[in-house]
Amino acid sequence: MKERGNFNSRLGFIMASAGSAVGLGNIWKFPFEVGAGGGAAFLVIYLFFALVLCFPVMTAEIAIGRKAQASPVTAFKKLGFARWSGVGYLGLAAGFLILSFYNVVAAWSFGYFFEMLQGHFEISQHFSEYTANWLKIGLYSLIFMSGTAYIVSRGISHGIERAAKALMPTLLFLIVGLIIYALTLPNAITGIKHYLLPDFSKITPTIVYSALGQAFFSLSLGMGALITFGSYVKKDANIVTAAAIITFTDVFIAFLAGLMMFPFVAYVTQGDLTAMSAISGEEAFIFETLPNVFNSLGPTLGVVIGSLFFLLLSFAALTSTISLLEVPTAFLVDEKKVSRGKATWTVAILIFLIGLPSLLGNGASAFFSEFIQFPNSTSPISFMSMVGMIGGSTFLSVGGFLISVFVAYVWGKSNFELEIQSDNEGTIGRWLKQYVQFAIRWICPLVLGIISLTTILDIYFGISLF
Ligand code: PHE
Repeated sequence: MKERGNFNSRLGFIMASAGSAVGLGNIWKFPFEVGAGGGAAFLVIYLFFALVLCFPVMTAEIAIGRKAQASPVTAFKKLGFARWSGVGYLGLAAGFLILSFYNVVAAWSFGYFFEMLQGHFEISQHFSEYTANWLKIGLYSLIFMSGTAYIVSRGISHGIERAAKALMPTLLFLIVGLIIYALTLPNAITGIKHYLLPDFSKITPTIVYSALGQAFFSLSLGMGALITFGSYVKKDANIVTAAAIITFTDVFIAFLAGLMMFPFVAYVTQGDLTAMSAISGEEAFIFETLPNVFNSLGPTLGVVIGSLFFLLLSFAALTSTISLLEVPTAFLVDEKKVSRGKATWTVAILIFLIGLPSLLGNGASAFFSEFIQFPNSTSPISFMSMVGMIGGSTFLSVGGFLISVFVAYVWGKSNFELEIQSDNEGTIGRWLKQYVQFAIRWICPLVLGIISLTTILDIYFGISLF
C-alpha cells in the first residue's frame, strides 16, 4: 500500500489536534454562548461535559484510528465491524456540512482582517450588507478554501503538522497579548465579573443541550476527525495523556477567549450590566461590536489591535478547516485509493459548492436566509444555521454516542485497554487511563444517549421531556 504519512512527532500530533479543536468555536461561539447562558453557570456545565464526557470520547476516537491505521469508514471495517462503518459515513456527512458553513464564517473573519487593516471600522454598522455581498464573501471563501486545500494536499507532516506548528504558537501569543491589552481598558473588571460570576437562573434544558453541542463541536469530536488524525500517530505514543493535553488546551483557549472578550464588552457598554448581557449573547457580537472598540482606540492602535484580532480568528479557523478537509480526503485516499492531491481538491470544490446556499443565505437570498422553522423555535432560521444545527450539533453528539457504545461494547474493553496502554504512563497517566476506561463504559453511552435523544425530540419534533 502507498505510504499514508505520519506525524513526525507526538508534539506535532498534539499541535495539529489542538489546532483542529481551537477554532471559531472557541473565539466566535464560546464567549457568546457563555454570555447567553449565565456566565460561569454555563462555564461549569461546559467544563463538566468537556472533561467528564468528551475527554474519554476523544481517547476512544484516537485509539480507533491508531489501531486501524485508517480514516473512519475504513477503520470500522479494518477492525472487523463493517456494519459500524455507518458511523464513519455519518461523520463524513457531518464534516461536509460543518466545513460548508464554517468556511463562510472563516471568510467573514478573513475579510474583516483586510477591512481592519484599512481602518474601515464603520463596517460594524453594515455587517448585514457585508454578509449579503456574496461575490465578495464568495471570493474570500474561495481563497480560504484554496489555502486549506493547499496545506492538506501537501500531506500530514509537510502540510498539516508544519502549519499547526507555525500557527498554534502564534495564536497563543496573539491571544495573550490581546488579553493583556483588554485588561487595561476601563471597566475591564466589570466585564470579568460578568464573565465569571454565575447566574444559574439562565440555565434551561436548551442551554444544557447547547453546552454539550458546543463541547463536541469545540473539541472536534463525534465525526471522526480524531480517528483520522489518530491514524497517523506512531504506536509508541501515549494517547491518553495526548487526549488530556488536547482537551485541556481547547478548554483553556476558550476560557482565554472569554477573558479577552468580556473586557471588550464592558468597555463598549461602559460597564452597563443590562447592555452587557444583551450584547454578549449576540451571535454577531464579534463582527458588530468589536470594530467599535477598535475604532475608539484611535486610528493607529485601532488598526493594529483590530487587524491582529481578525488575523487570530482566521488562523484559528484555518487549523480547523484543515482537519475538516482531511477527513473526507483521507476517506478517498484510504477507501477509493485516490491520490492525496486529487482527493483534496475534489472534496474542496464539492464542499465549496455545498456551501453556496450558506453563502447566499446571509442576506443575498431571502429564500436561504429564512429557510426553515423548527418546531421549538419562534422564527425561521437561515440555511447556514440549519446546517450548523444538524451537522455541527446533532450529528456530532449522536456520533459521539455511537463511538462510545462501539468502543465499550462492540470493539470491547480489552482491545481498547490494549490500545491505550503505554510503557511510560506515570501515576497521573494511569489514573486518567482508569477513568477513561470507566467513563467510556458507564458514563458516556448513557449520558450522551439521553442528551442526544432529548435534543433531537426537542429541536426537530418540538417534544420537550424536561
Ligand atoms: N473544533 C472546531 C472549532 O471549535 C470546529 C471543528 C469541528 C473542527 C469538528 C473539526 C471538526 O472551531
